Formats: sequence, structure tokens, C-alpha cells
Amino acid sequence: MVELDLIVKNGKIVTVSDTYSADIGVSKGKIVTIAQSLPDNGAEVVDAKGKYVFPGGIDVHVHLQLPFSGTISADDFENGTKAAACGGVTTVIDFAIQTKGSSIMEAIEARRAEADPKVCVDYGLHAAITDWNDKTQAEIKKVIDYGIPTFKMFMIYKNEGWMADDGMLFNALEETSKLGGHIGVHAESVDVLDMLIERYAREKEKWGAYGHTLSRPCYTEEEAVIRAIKWAEATGGQLYIVHMSTGEGADAVHQAKQKGIRVFAETCPQYLLLDDEVFKGENGHLYATCPQIKKPHDSERLWQGLMNGDVQIIATDTCTFTTEQKAAWNGDFTKIPFGMPGVETMVPLMFTEGVGKRGFTVNQLVALVSTNPAKLFGMYPEKGTIAIGSDADLVVFDPEKKVIISAKNLQTNCDWSPFEGWKLVGYPAVTISRGKVVAEDGKFVGEVGHGRFLKRKAFGKL
Ligand code: URP
Ligand code: ZN
Ligand code: ZN
Repeated sequence: MVELDLIVKNGKIVTVSDTYSADIGVSKGKIVTIAQSLPDNGAEVVDAKGKYVFPGGIDVHVHLQLPFSGTISADDFENGTKAAACGGVTTVIDFAIQTKGSSIMEAIEARRAEADPKVCVDYGLHAAITDWNDKTQAEIKKVIDYGIPTFKMFMIYKNEGWMADDGMLFNALEETSKLGGHIGVHAESVDVLDMLIERYAREKEKWGAYGHTLSRPCYTEEEAVIRAIKWAEATGGQLYIVHMSTGEGADAVHQAKQKGIRVFAETCPQYLLLDDEVFKGENGHLYATCPQIKKPHDSERLWQGLMNGDVQIIATDTCTFTTEQKAAWNGDFTKIPFGMPGVETMVPLMFTEGVGKRGFTVNQLVALVSTNPAKLFGMYPEKGTIAIGSDADLVVFDPEKKVIISAKNLQTNCDWSPFEGWKLVGYPAVTISRGKVVAEDGKFVGEVGHGRFLKRKAFGKL
């Protein structure tokens, strides 16, 4: 028998299909045995008695040290991945955003130079396409072969130079469909949105932060989701709706799936747990993210979508801005840096709210935050499950532990949390990344640079 470096003992192992008690033996970062009562033989032992053992969380949507809104998101690759580890997330996927006029590979290399020395858990990159020409088209294969089969296109953000128009989206869906890639879209209707922003900005003093939500009604997401789905249908391309925030979006995905269109969707804790009343509070501007937090009935429909399979993935869209950075708004809702922290609280929040309060099984939770992302994003079965041969990315999760969320106790560089004061029942006790303990009781204990860039496979599907 191979010599074990680490044994996770006495835990209740949870995969999408099974919940059972056994020990997990790890050697050189891989799971090599799952059995009853493994002998220690000098291996490091993590006692998981009374606890679940989940496959590590996978957050496929984070923006670490992102230059945006005239500032840079406050969690860099080091602290953002430390925060991930503390919250039971062992893989994150960030974005390499092409600069118009430059190649996608240049953006990827630049992002890797920033991330590789700093990351504390494994990470991947999506390639964001902002320019479409013959060179870009030819590059798609190269990027997929490099290990980045998932692309992102923003249907808004003209001013940032990130926006992709319908022609670009159509072309990219068509090209990636041949090569096993998929296109993630930030779906909002740019022209109507920009017109509404201008309209409400004329009376910005009257609206305050609530102007942000008034200028982004649900139909601006619905229309863009439906449009993107149409291009997926026409091209046969695989589409992924990122950070879906509306009930209408969930309905559109549901209908498209019934027609056999290859579309998948992600939602985030902020859309499931908050509603746009937050903008009326004294610090309403802190909650400005994009797309906007919607109404309680949208949250309900998204929860229903998670339950019935219309929505397959929970991710966070982590894009942290501190109160100081957010203060740049100075009463003008058009100047708020969009984004919030999230990666550190995703798994425990979804356990408390989904499993604890809404009757999701622990197996469904694992599907939504680990297995589905691993499969759709080309990382399965190395990631996203507990099986012999898989990476030993594990979360020993204490279902009884009570925690009150407070930014001051979190690893994130953010000095506020959208879930400040929320009561959690269930929290990660130990996080293990490729066989190394990287967090204990919410504190990072790993090594900077331990994380690796993940070369992912094409043709991801569920
Ligand atoms: O508000 C957000 N989500 N900021 C990051 C950029 C994006 O649209 O995902
Ligand atoms: Zn977005
Ligand atoms: Zn995002």
C-alpha cells in the first residue's frame, strides 16, 4: 500500500450521489484510498468525527485585483485565495480580459504573472473576449489548447472597452462550439440600460443609491438573456449565463433547455439572499453590484431554479471594494465601484440557507458549489468530487458550528460584508488543498504560492 501523507478520519463523506462514513487517505496531493479505519502509520490525521467531508468548493466567478471603476478590487490573488481557503473554497476561476487591439494570450500571460506567485489555492482563468477579428478567431483554438476552454463576453461596459456586440457574440459562440469551448455572458441590455442610467442620473440627489436599482430593471437582464440564448440556438454554441439575478432569466433558461438549447446558468448568494431594499439604507451604495440585486420574488424563483435544475451553479462574482473605495460615489450612483466580497462566505451561507432552511440536501449543495462547476468548466474528476485519483481538495465541515458573520473576523480585505450580522449554523472546520491543510476554523494556515494554475479540458458539460 502507498504511504499516506494525510488521513481524514471518521468523517461523513458527501458527493453528489452518496453520503457515507469512511476515512480518506491522501498521498502526494491525491486521494489514493477510501476505506474504514485506515491505520495512521505516521500520516498527518485530520479528525472529522461528527462532521461532513465535502469536495472543496469551486467558485467559478471571482475578480481578484481587478482594475475597475477607477480603482482596483481590494482582494488580490494572495488575499482573495486565502479568503477562499478560509471559506472552504479550494478552486477559483478569475478572468483574463483582452485589451482591445491586443491578443487574448497577452492578457492571459499578464494575468498569470500576477497570480501564479501569489495564489494559495488552485485557480483557473476564463478568457474575456473584447475584440473580434481574424486574429481573435484564430486564437480561440490556441487558448482552448492552452487549458482555457471557457470565455466571457460582456454585453455591457462600453466605457471600460469590454463590451461585445451581438455580432461578436454570435461569432464566438459559433467558433467555440466547434472546439468544445463555451461562452459565459454578462447579460444586460446596454442601450436601454445606458439610457435609463442617464435618465435617473438627472435626479441623482433625489434617488441616491436607489438610482442604481431603478436604472437596471429586470427586463434589462431578461432581454439580454433571451437575445444571447437566441444566438446560442442559431449557432449551436454552449452558453453560460453568469451572475443571473432575475426570475425572468431563470424562466428563459428553463424554456431554452426545453428546446434543447445548450444553456447553463449561475446565480450568486447576493441574488438569493438580498433584495433591493438594501439600497434604501444609510450604506445602500455599498451593495451596488452589477447586475443589480432584484426583488424577493426573483430570489424565490432563483432558489426554485437551483432546486429544479434551471440554475446549475452557485458562484460569487467576488469583486471586493472597501467602504473607502465605495465612498468614491459621493452621492452619485453612477460612480459607485460595482462589486462585493463573497468567496469566503459562499459555502457556509448556502449550507445555512439552502440546506438548513430550504430543504436542499447536502448532496445538492455539493453539486451546486463543487461538482457542477467542476464538470461544466472542464476540471472533473480531478476536482469536484471525492474519489480515488481525485485531487485531495476537501472541506471538513462542521454542521453545528454557529458563526455570526462579521467583516472583522473574515480574511477578506473588505471592511464590510453584505451579510454582516447574519447567523450561520455550519462552517468549514478544515480546508485541504491538494493534501495540504490550508485553513482551520476560518483562519488561513497554508502557504502563499501553493496554488497552481489549472489547465482545464474542453467539452465541459453536466
Ligand atoms: O459588480 C460586479 N459584478 N463587478 C465585476 C464585474 C462584473 O460585471 O462581473
Ligand atoms: Zn458581470
Ligand atoms: Zn463578474
